[in-house]
Amino acid sequence: MAEAFEGLQAEDDHQVPGAATDSLSSNTQLGRAVQSACSELELLSLLAVQLLTKEKAISALSAGLHANCENYLSFYSSELSGIVTDPALMIVSVDDHLVHRGHAVFDTAVITEGYLYQLDAHLQRFFTSAKKAGLLLPFPAAQIRRIILETAAAGKKMHGYVRYWLGAGRGGFGLSPSECISPSFYVVAYQAAEDPMRHLSGWRIKTSRVPAKDPYFATLKSNNYLANALVAMDAEASGYDQGVFVDEAGFVAEGPTMNLGVVTHEGELVIPPFERSLAGCTIKRVLELVAQHQETDVGMWATRDFEAVKKVSQRPLHVKEAKAAKEVFMVGSATKVMPVVVWDDIDFMSKVSYDRIGVGPGTVTLAMRGLLEDDMDPRSASGQHTEVPYGILTGMYD
Ligand SMILES: Cc1ncc(COP(=O)(O)O)c(C=O)c1O
Repeated sequence: MAEAFEGLQAEDDHQVPGAATDSLSSNTQLGRAVQSACSELELLSLLAVQLLTKEKAISALSAGLHANCENYLSFYSSELSGIVTDPALMIVSVDDHLVHRGHAVFDTAVITEGYLYQLDAHLQRFFTSAKKAGLLLPFPAAQIRRIILETAAAGKKMHGYVRYWLGAGRGGFGLSPSECISPSFYVVAYQAAEDPMRHLSGWRIKTSRVPAKDPYFATLKSNNYLANALVAMDAEASGYDQGVFVDEAGFVAEGPTMNLGVVTHEGELVIPPFERSLAGCTIKRVLELVAQHQETDVGMWATRDFEAVKKVSQRPLHVKEAKAAKEVFMVGSATKVMPVVVWDDIDFMSKVSYDRIGVGPGTVTLAMRGLLEDDMDPRSASGQHTEVPYGILTGMYD
């Protein structure tokens, strides 16, 4: 039984400097001592970790939502065997090797005007990455594709992104996936704040000192994006918009989530090989569009924009050659085609002044962006779109 607190013994009581009312006043020594003891106790209670009941833990998930969760539209989890739209429930178990070992691959596709753009190209890369990461699919490929589309539909938005992960799955905290019960699959549909005019001012980029990934890992879109995050942080910390991976010999690899290309003064459009960089679905499509455009000589992007392009090559590109180019650009699903206006200490806006006086982003770069934007428009019927099956269940169509 707990001992009752009896207070001070009568002989000690006279040593306390003040009466009970003094303990409430901040003008007395006793009051200040009491206040400081209370703050100490408050701090200790904040540091104390609670053991939560299931009910409290569930309500903490909702209480922990932050403002950006508004952009999280829908989430599929193979663990839940279904889709949820409450961001509080968009969670992944800690014993999934995706979480504690990073044993997972992922990919992202854009939702544009109610269609997924280049879904099949992204899925193809996803399955190739899965194979390289030794991951099995929990369902047939057609079902994976269907789940991605259903999750996009449940998000009920005509614009945004779907990102999907394949993990080694749950089963324990070991390293080998031999303990995993079944591979896991997750999909999230989300929106992101974007400035549609950002490309008009272009990006300032910084050569990163973070080592470029070696070919096996650079060409596999795994969950290990630590190096990529460090490139982005390093650039941001120095006031740049984006960073660039360059290999040990000084050859350009890529940006942290986008490819890089240049147009030389001799009219060569150069993309580095997909060896120290991911094979970007967007850059591949842009190159196809440029080739088509040059062949057919039609479309709203005037041929003269591409007159400067005499040749398209995929070959090693040294950082010195890249910085001496006429135009530099970055390309990715979310980036689209982004002009680079500054690279380290090189200012492209002033460097090539004789044929770019007063002009910001390069004309070939902007024309490529135009071609891509046209191609992303579902009305282009380019064969790159998959309709999101919003249907009656979502309440969007009746
Ligand atoms: C490292 C890296 N490089 C390049 C890209 C560009 O690929 P995509 O055009 O398929 O988005 C991405 C984006 O996924 C990426 O993460």
